Amino acid sequence: MRLKTILIILAALPFVLIAIFFLYSFLLSPPGSGRDVSRQKGVPFPALMAHRGVSGLAPEETRPAYLLARELGADYLEADIQRTKDGVLIALHDDDLTRTTNIEEIYPDRAKDSVDTFTYAELMKLDAGSWFNETHPQWARPSFVGLNILTLEELIDIADGGYHKPGLYLETKSPERFPGIEKQIVDLLKKRGWIGPSSETEEASLEETPLDAPDRVNVRNMPGRIIVQSFSQDSLQIFKDLAPELPRVYLFGQDTVEEGGSFEAVLEQALAVDANAGPSGYMAWPWYTSKIHARGMIVHYYTINQSWQMWLINQFGADGIFTDRIDIALDYFDRMEEPDLEQYFKKIEY
Ligand code: G3P
Ligand code: CA
Repeated sequence: MRLKTILIILAALPFVLIAIFFLYSFLLSPPGSGRDVSRQKGVPFPALMAHRGVSGLAPEETRPAYLLARELGADYLEADIQRTKDGVLIALHDDDLTRTTNIEEIYPDRAKDSVDTFTYAELMKLDAGSWFNETHPQWARPSFVGLNILTLEELIDIADGGYHKPGLYLETKSPERFPGIEKQIVDLLKKRGWIGPSSETEEASLEETPLDAPDRVNVRNMPGRIIVQSFSQDSLQIFKDLAPELPRVYLFGQDTVEEGGSFEAVLEQALAVDANAGPSGYMAWPWYTSKIHARGMIVHYYTINQSWQMWLINQFGADGIFTDRIDIALDYFDRMEEPDLEQYFKKIEY
């Protein structure tokens, strides 16, 4: 009898501990705890970012990846911005072109050279789609062959070009290699009416349209239409000086915390440039999220691709996620039923 009781207690213990953990987590950082801060900053809650477009289903940072993100209803199109040798702003994640293009075939002697050593015309000779078909045969499509690297101007065209009006979530990638890139980005966004008077005019004209209309994304016409993000505090400081109204997000991972000495020290680095927090999803614990919210910052975690991860992070009070699978995120957050992807590819003509 005594043994039976002990066995029952032992069997129940993991469930009790899990229940205590989730109760503790709820008290510390309940779902929705950052909703008001997001609203104050003009950023949707929860914010769903298409990380490099729908990069789980199409070649990252290319036209179909972003068109699909827009058509599905992502809140933001996320992109890593770099610059060609002749000054064109482009969307590309890696420092070099080996992973996402056929550079070894086209420029074998320059295959490992960084992207800023190529002119725009040279980059246009590269195929930025075929690698995806080889790496992800289950999502391969003939129309991905021969895709071009996208410019920031073309990304803006995509964001502006549909029924849904997503925002832009732009990262300066390795900004120390691109002096002045922040000003170039801000100037382009001004020219395109994303910063400044024309944005305000459009915002006013859309007053009659509820911004939270369930069937239409309208982040383009919210104050947080552009978010700038970087692993570089210096780059965010430059953005703060140039366009203080743009929400800023300081990206960091475990290595940043180790370098900074503590999680709190990294948050101080973010606060020094009035930035919000963009930590790795491995750090999405409620005790971290609560510390971020306690400082009046919002927190968007990267990169969250599974629905169970979305559930967990939402339970722990996150304000948004970067995801390669915006289709899964929109379904998880009840913004759409599981979409018929073939229909969407047909619609975007890929
Ligand atoms: O911008 C959020 C996330 O994209 C940061 O990581 O390496 O994918 O740019 P990475
Ligand atoms: Ca990024």
